[in-house]
Amino acid sequence: MEAHQLEQLIEAVLTSSKYKSASSDLVRYIGTQELAKGHNLKEAIKATKNKLHQVGGAYQDITPRYTAWLDKLRQASQAGNSNQLRDVCKWIMQYHSSTRERLPVLEQFYSTILAGLPPINSVIDVACGLHPLAIPWMPLAEPTTYYAYDMYQDMTDFLNECLPLLHVQGYAQACDVIHHCPTQKVDLAFLLKAIPCLEQVDKSAGLRLLETINADYLVVSFPTHSLGGNRKGMAANYEARFYELVDGKPWSIRRFLFPGELVFLIRKEGAEII
Ligand SMILES: C[S@@+](CC[C@H](N)C(=O)[O-])C[C@H]1O[C@@H](n2cnc3c(N)ncnc32)[C@H](O)[C@@H]1O
Repeated sequence: MEAHQLEQLIEAVLTSSKYKSASSDLVRYIGTQELAKGHNLKEAIKATKNKLHQVGGAYQDITPRYTAWLDKLRQASQAGNSNQLRDVCKWIMQYHSSTRERLPVLEQFYSTILAGLPPINSVIDVACGLHPLAIPWMPLAEPTTYYAYDMYQDMTDFLNECLPLLHVQGYAQACDVIHHCPTQKVDLAFLLKAIPCLEQVDKSAGLRLLETINADYLVVSFPTHSLGGNRKGMAANYEARFYELVDGKPWSIRRFLFPGELVFLIRKEGAEII
């Protein structure tokens, strides 16, 4: 593989309208993989875009309207009406399929999974999508610091504006979480429906993230149907993958099944039963 081909590929992908905001580290990593397969430049650019679509673009059905969304969120926040704020958050979350699928169970999701946990003052959200918009439903203690990471710069710019409106401190950051796993110590980490995506790019990503994330509690989930609809055996396959990943770890685990999502709560220390 020639170095200048990789640079040309990165430039082509990062100047395309759909991926101009994608993490350049991730584009570089996927582009390197595709060129190493012996593709010519044109084929490698196409294959890189396809992979970016599979792991990120496919979840956004429309071009995100961050400015309009933020205006609505600001209006609701200024009105000081928590129901209005929740309505706007739900409206925004419908534009990312991962959060849209969770809307019907939002009221029970966090209260069920996080029931009985010690106060949560700090959170990491890895490969977050629009999930930070669900903060109003999370039983978090004040003050809360929330750190969110995704592969898109425009999405994380938007989330940086949202976090204060949702009354939390912290920041959102664009990065490739496969190679830049957040390491700060927090009370809770979310790794929601992310492992299957990340393992499409690097098979060891799931294990590395589970081992590296420095949280007392980790909420890890898997989709139980594909973007296109139901797929037989998907939940069983992902459950098997999860138990393979945690095999031999001294961690306590709880399992929850929601419509569309299989969730595991991990207590890393293992000493205390959750
Ligand atoms: C299936 S969605 C899950 C979103 C969110 N966790 C949820 O469940 O609502 C996967 C997310 O991972 C992001 N993503 C994929 N690969 C990534 C990478 N290497 N680094 C950071 N984010 C990534 C995508 O942009 C997308 O928002």
